Amino acid sequence: MRAPTPAELELYALAQDAIGNAYAPYSRFPVSAALQPVDGGEPIIGVNVENASFGVTMCAERSALFAAVTMGHRRFETVAVHANATSCPPCGACRQALAEFAPDITVVYRRGGDVVAAAFDELLPERFEL
Ligand code: THU
Repeated sequence: MRAPTPAELELYALAQDAIGNAYAPYSRFPVSAALQPVDGGEPIIGVNVENASFGVTMCAERSALFAAVTMGHRRFETVAVHANATSCPPCGACRQALAEFAPDITVVYRRGGDVVAAAFDELLPERFEL
């Protein structure tokens, strides 16, 4: 874990800009994400989208990832995750989903009030693969 680079902070700022689009009326915990593809294309944004049937809820990171894959991207450099909270690392399900396409991705998120950049291996060592 280290301090983010200026480019990583820019990606984090893009995630921050999208927080108003999060749909979180049940948890009242809006989350937004910005995912940078390796091919240098525009970052893809995602937000959490909740549902009255709680289990149907989709996290911000997977919203971004699935949209990006739908657009044809398969490899990703960095993901930034934002919430108005002291800490918001990606949940375990999102880590596993990211592992499928981006086992070397850098994850930028707020941790104990600071924005940090972590190597994916630090967040999900010994991940399941087929
Ligand atoms: N959430 C995310 O969007 N990403 C995460 O990595 C953790 C949790 C959302 C899901 C739910 O809408 C809300 O945060 C509270 O759990």
